[in-house]
Amino acid sequence: MNPQQLLFYCRAGFESDLAAEIATKAAALGWQGYPVAQPQSGHVSFVLTDERPANALHRDLPLASLVFARQSLVALEPLTGLSREDRLSPIIEQVVASGWNFESLWQETPDTNDAKALAGLIKALQRPLESILKKRGALRRKAGGRRLHLLWTEGDRVQLGMSFPGNRSEQPGGIRRLRFPHDAPSRSTLKLEEAWHEFVPRDQWETRLAEGMQAADLGAAPGGWTWQLVQRGMQVYAIDNGPMDRGLMATGLVEHLREDGFVWAPPMRLDWLVCDIVDKPARVIDMVERWLVKRWCREAVFNLKLPMKRRWEAVSEGLARLDRSLAEAGVRAEIGCRHLYHDREEVTVHVRLLN
Ligand SMILES: C[S@@+](CC[C@H](N)C(=O)[O-])C[C@H]1O[C@@H](n2cnc3c(N)ncnc32)[C@H](O)[C@@H]1O
Repeated sequence: MNPQQLLFYCRAGFESDLAAEIATKAAALGWQGYPVAQPQSGHVSFVLTDERPANALHRDLPLASLVFARQSLVALEPLTGLSREDRLSPIIEQVVASGWNFESLWQETPDTNDAKALAGLIKALQRPLESILKKRGALRRKAGGRRLHLLWTEGDRVQLGMSFPGNRSEQPGGIRRLRFPHDAPSRSTLKLEEAWHEFVPRDQWETRLAEGMQAADLGAAPGGWTWQLVQRGMQVYAIDNGPMDRGLMATGLVEHLREDGFVWAPPMRLDWLVCDIVDKPARVIDMVERWLVKRWCREAVFNLKLPMKRRWEAVSEGLARLDRSLAEAGVRAEIGCRHLYHDREEVTVHVRLLN
């Protein structure tokens, strides 16, 4: 039985954006299929009508290149109408019939309030499932790092998916939970921390997020993002008309300038630009583009606010424009964009200059 679906997790409310993104990208790569997305369900599947196996499309669409997906799996047909007396047998049968084997089993639910009620059920099933899957040879010590995911959407409905190392989120539910630092001035601080986890490999933090680096934070007040930069030992120009947190100012690492972030220019080249100003995506992109073309910073993280209905279209147009303008200016850059767990109606973009 060849898997004919991909299964993606997302924030509830973003299903149509993720569906549009996957459909557009799959079509551009020459794949045939259609997305299945229910509003507020926290997940989207893409059903292939192509002869080729879903694994190949999964490889063609790396999770890191997707904006709205938190997790990406190769999936089997959902199992529905499971009986309360025996939920396990149909699951085991489907795994065995697929010929799949794994090193681990993760049971998950979509990130919705309704689905959280299934936590007790999932817990009760974990041990028995693992034990039977081991006996049937589907769960073993070495299986190429593959993981079996069971996405429970109802007590009687589950979809089985498989993930592969290097093309998945290693966080349950695709959600990176971070602890709020008690002395940070705002909850927004977690957006920048999550962005670094997402875009800067951990073993490069010492060189790319290093003490003594210089940064600018546009729209900085009250200072959640500046706090992260200061934690790394950077010196920060904090640009905002609003007041900055006093504790942060007392570190001596922050210069607060009450200027317009869209026109302010740094006195010298900086290492980082970060920007969390609430404005039209096109306006933010134009400003960041100017910074990059003039090479005023080496890396940038900025958020694009998405109050509009068709969020995927707005993001893809913005990114395409940025890509084009940088190429025209001869600036080589790596561009990533993700809808982070700590992002709400917004996405986070990362750009790193390469030449
Ligand atoms: C979402 S808040 C930033 C929160 C901040 N990142 C934090 O973690 O605390 C947006 C900020 O952008 C500022 N802002 C809006 N327009 C601006 C502009 N043209 N120049 C500079 N700051 C601006 C607002 O005053 C507001 O403080």
